[in-house]
Amino acid sequence: MARAKKTELPRVDERLQSIGIIMDGNGRWAKRRLLPRSAGHVAGAKAIQPILEDLRKIGIHHVTLYAFSTENWKRPEEEVTGLMELIYKYLDEVVIPKIRADENFCMRFLGDKARLPEKLRNKCIEVEEMAGEREFVCNLALNYGGRDEIIHAVNEAIKDGCSPITEEDISRRMYTSHSPDPDLIIRTAGELRVSNFLIWQGAYSELFVTDTLWPDFSRADIIAAIEAFYKRKRRFGGLDKEE
Ligand code: IPE
Ligand code: IPE
Ligand code: MG
Repeated sequence: MARAKKTELPRVDERLQSIGIIMDGNGRWAKRRLLPRSAGHVAGAKAIQPILEDLRKIGIHHVTLYAFSTENWKRPEEEVTGLMELIYKYLDEVVIPKIRADENFCMRFLGDKARLPEKLRNKCIEVEEMAGEREFVCNLALNYGGRDEIIHAVNEAIKDGCSPITEEDISRRMYTSHSPDPDLIIRTAGELRVSNFLIWQGAYSELFVTDTLWPDFSRADIIAAIEAFYKRKRRFGGLDKEE
């Protein structure tokens, strides 16, 4: 007999407060349905909000979503333009009403906004200005690359006269300075790589990769990821008490 999929949400504790998600597989989701890639991105955008709601219900405070990398500009112009418009629409139609209705939710952006189309850049600024510090923070990584972020932070530290530059000098100047490092990084669609996502902050993150494609990512996948996390032993280079 096939086991029913678990749907009851667990509760996390202080060991799991911050999660990063590499939302991959929109293109493959569309291809399997003989649809254009853009349809996969639309389905991917729809999947975001219910997942954020569930993560918040289980007690997570910081979620960082990889939406568009510094390398994704290499894609065909039509796909890039479509993605920028889709992200604008998501912010305008979903995120802004959500921030208005929910005093505990806010969104921040990671990445250099300068390269974004002006309309989207202004929308990001509007979203950030609407809500500063709230209980639940969603960081949307947009035109984000971990290497770009490190270079940016180092240059800022030099400008500020830090010498020699310390780990703390860099961490404080990262796009993520307001959020703790991710305890867990989830990647959908099966690839075993980090693709320039949170390469500084993820130094000791637990990794969970699922074959589920992002538009299909559901509560059952969250539960599987949380269960896997709690089976791990995080040593941070040290030894377990019993070792
Ligand atoms: C992730 O899905 C979305 C972005 C990178 C913008 P993909 O578009 O990379 O989907 P696949 O990897 O081709 O299936
Ligand atoms: C990572 O996915 C970027 C995002 C999910 C936004 P990619 O599809 O760009 O990664 P690669 O090219 O497979 O490494
Ligand atoms: Mg991909």
